[in-house]
Amino acid sequence: VKHLLGIKYLNKQDIELIFETADQFKEVINRPIKKVPSLRDITIANLFFENSTRTKLSFELAEKRLSADVINFSASQSSVKKGETLVDTVNNILSMKVDMVVMRHPNPGAGVFLAKHVNASIINAGDGAHEHPTQALLDTYSIREKLGKVKGKNVVIVGDILHSRVALSNIYALQLQGANVMVCGPRTLIPKYIKELGVTVETNLKHALEWCDVANMLRVQNERMDISYFPSTREYTQQYGINKELLNNLAKDIVIMHPGPINRGVEITSDVADSKQAIILDQVENGVAIRMAVIYLLASKI
Ligand code: CP
Repeated sequence: VKHLLGIKYLNKQDIELIFETADQFKEVINRPIKKVPSLRDITIANLFFENSTRTKLSFELAEKRLSADVINFSASQSSVKKGETLVDTVNNILSMKVDMVVMRHPNPGAGVFLAKHVNASIINAGDGAHEHPTQALLDTYSIREKLGKVKGKNVVIVGDILHSRVALSNIYALQLQGANVMVCGPRTLIPKYIKELGVTVETNLKHALEWCDVANMLRVQNERMDISYFPSTREYTQQYGINKELLNNLAKDIVIMHPGPINRGVEITSDVADSKQAIILDQVENGVAIRMAVIYLLASKI
C-alpha cells in the first residue's frame, strides 16, 4: 500500500507499526538536532484546498524533520481559481518530479479519486466530512501515551458527529485498537448510520462523561452546517458544552481531548481546555511524530 486514504483501509498491525515508528521519531524530535536524513531523495507536495493550521504545519514540519524536499500549494492562490481540474493540477505538480502528495480537500472521497487517477503516493489530510486519518492516529497515540493503552478504554466523541471527519476516523481507529466507543450529541448532529458502526449513542452529556475515560470534544462545524440541523449555539453550549463544574462532579478524572481549532466557550470552556486534564497540545505535539512515521513508512513503498 503506498497511500494513506483512511483508517478504514488499515488493520491493527498497521497502526501498531505506525505507533512504534512514531515512538522512535518522537525521541528524535526531542533531541537538540531534530532531523534525520531518511528522506533526502523524496519530494513531497502539500496540497491544501481547505484551510488548516495544525495539519498543514505539522505535515510540513514532519517532512522537513525527515529531510524531504517540500513544496506547498494553497488552492486559493493557485490556477484552480482559473478553472484547472484537480487531476490536471496534480499531474502538473507531479511532472516536476514530486513523489508524494498530502492533500486536504472539501469533497469526501477526493483522496481515493486522486489515487486512482495519478501516479503518486497520496496521504489524505482530511476529505470533507469523510476521514482525517492522521488526526485519528495522533489522537489514539495520545490516549496510548496518557493511559498506557487504548484497549478497553471508554472513549466518548462529543458534538457535531454528522460533519466530522475526525469522528469517523477516530471510531475506526479506536475500534481497531479495542476501545469502547460512544458518540454524544444532539440527534440532529448524529448520522443515522452511526449505530451500524457498533458505537453507542448517548444524547445526555452528563451520562456520557460518567461512563468515559476519555472525552474527545469536537468543534461545531458551522461552515458545513445546514442551519435547519442545528440547535442554537446557546442551546448547544448548555447541553453539550463541557465545563469545570461538570468535570468536578464526576467520580474520577477523565482525559479531555480536542482536535482543534477550539471554539472557546462553545463546546469547551477555557478553564477545561487549559487544565491539566486536557491533552490538546500533546495531541498537536504527537501529530509531528505520527506524520513522520506515516510518511517514512509510505516512502519505503515508492
Ligand atoms: N485538527 C485539524 O485538522 O486542525 P486544522 O484544521 O487546523 O488542520
